[in-house]
Amino acid sequence: MDYLDSKYFTYGTDNILQCENVPVNEIINKTGTPVYIYSRKFFEDRYKEFTQAFREIKHRVFYSVKANFNLNVIKTLYNLGSGIDVNSEGEFYRAYKAGADPKKMLMAGVGKTADEIKLAIEKDFIMIKAESPEEIELINEIAGKLKKKAKVGIRVNPDVNPQTHPYISTGLSQNKFGVAAPEAEQMFKDYEKYPNISFTGIDMHIGSQVTTVEPFVEAVDKLSEFYFKVKSYGVKIEHFDIGGGVGVTYNNEKSFGIPEFADALIPKLKKLDCEIFFEPGRFLTGNGGILVTKVLFNKRNNNKKFIIVDAAMNDLLRPSIYSAYHHIQPVEISTSDKDIVADIVGPVCESGDFFAKDRTITETKSGKSLAIMSAGAYSMVMSSNYNARRRPAEVIVDGNKFSVVRTRETFDHLLYDEKVI
Ligand code: LLP
Repeated sequence: MDYLDSKYFTYGTDNILQCENVPVNEIINKTGTPVYIYSRKFFEDRYKEFTQAFREIKHRVFYSVKANFNLNVIKTLYNLGSGIDVNSEGEFYRAYKAGADPKKMLMAGVGKTADEIKLAIEKDFIMIKAESPEEIELINEIAGKLKKKAKVGIRVNPDVNPQTHPYISTGLSQNKFGVAAPEAEQMFKDYEKYPNISFTGIDMHIGSQVTTVEPFVEAVDKLSEFYFKVKSYGVKIEHFDIGGGVGVTYNNEKSFGIPEFADALIPKLKKLDCEIFFEPGRFLTGNGGILVTKVLFNKRNNNKKFIIVDAAMNDLLRPSIYSAYHHIQPVEISTSDKDIVADIVGPVCESGDFFAKDRTITETKSGKSLAIMSAGAYSMVMSSNYNARRRPAEVIVDGNKFSVVRTRETFDHLLYDEKVI
């Protein structure tokens, strides 16, 4: 079988998979499995690559913490200069605990609660992205009570097709996100009706795991036109926010590179007289993490082979809900092993509990470990306690050292504050 090519996860001369310079075996001897392992260098390099590509224009990156909200991942990107995109009070709390200044945060979300809006105003978030006229009314009312002026961007739905999985497509008019352009235009036109709001931004986010540049170009073209219209009404737009969505390679599918993304967008963005915001999540973290799991059993039902591992859908949900592909490779390669075709499945009592179906994979045995690749984004964050399974530990590697940055949950975590009455 082939192995995913990554300079952050490579095999050492002893044929053991390493994260940076640390053999994965060394980590799992300490933590057990399943465990998430992240490369700090990966996150740093990706952030630098992104900002470097857009250095010609005035821009800011707001790491979308929903992709991976481990405190140390947030802190790593924040320390490099990233702002933070939060979608809930909980994400705010995590970013805050990681040391991020609320003034460098923006608040997104199609359904914010009054508490979330209040928090963003009180803490002077750089922007609240409003997604409906009712939300604008509420922001205006809460800001009035707080005797503050809220800085608000309107998320416009540009009605473009990002050509991604329907569950993560957000920029089409049939999606719940954003405000249709004519309605958004009216909201900007009426800005004087909202004395407690400064309308500072125009915002979009067309979807996630977008693998071609064209939908971004189309959306930026549409919203640039919109930007000039809005400016003509006397609204002082300070930020034009492109959102996240840059796709990454999970298998051998082609995604565009950041230089290509920058080349396509910079000439257009240069025409706008304001700062450009980006909210990448997956691009910064997706290929910087793996989930390591141990083989429990090999079995065969008629002609079908199964490899049953100790991680499950509760630890990594993406294959179950999006049929997402994650490369799976052995932690230890042996040249004598032969390839088989099997489903790689977890212990949860659902047929949807799989990591791969009919996958060609090197034959393995009970006790051996496998690495599920590209598990740095939307992986641990989407884990649950289904089947009363404890969530995995998380480890960050720095060169030739590793730190357990979150230990595996204990059984007491499972009962947190629950009482028998
Ligand atoms: N900004 C907003 C407003 C978003 O809703 C998202 C992601 C991002 C930024 C970051 O997008 P990214 O650069 O990571 O594509 N659970 C799914 C992905 C859901 C994405 C939700 N929104 C998955 O596992 O593929």
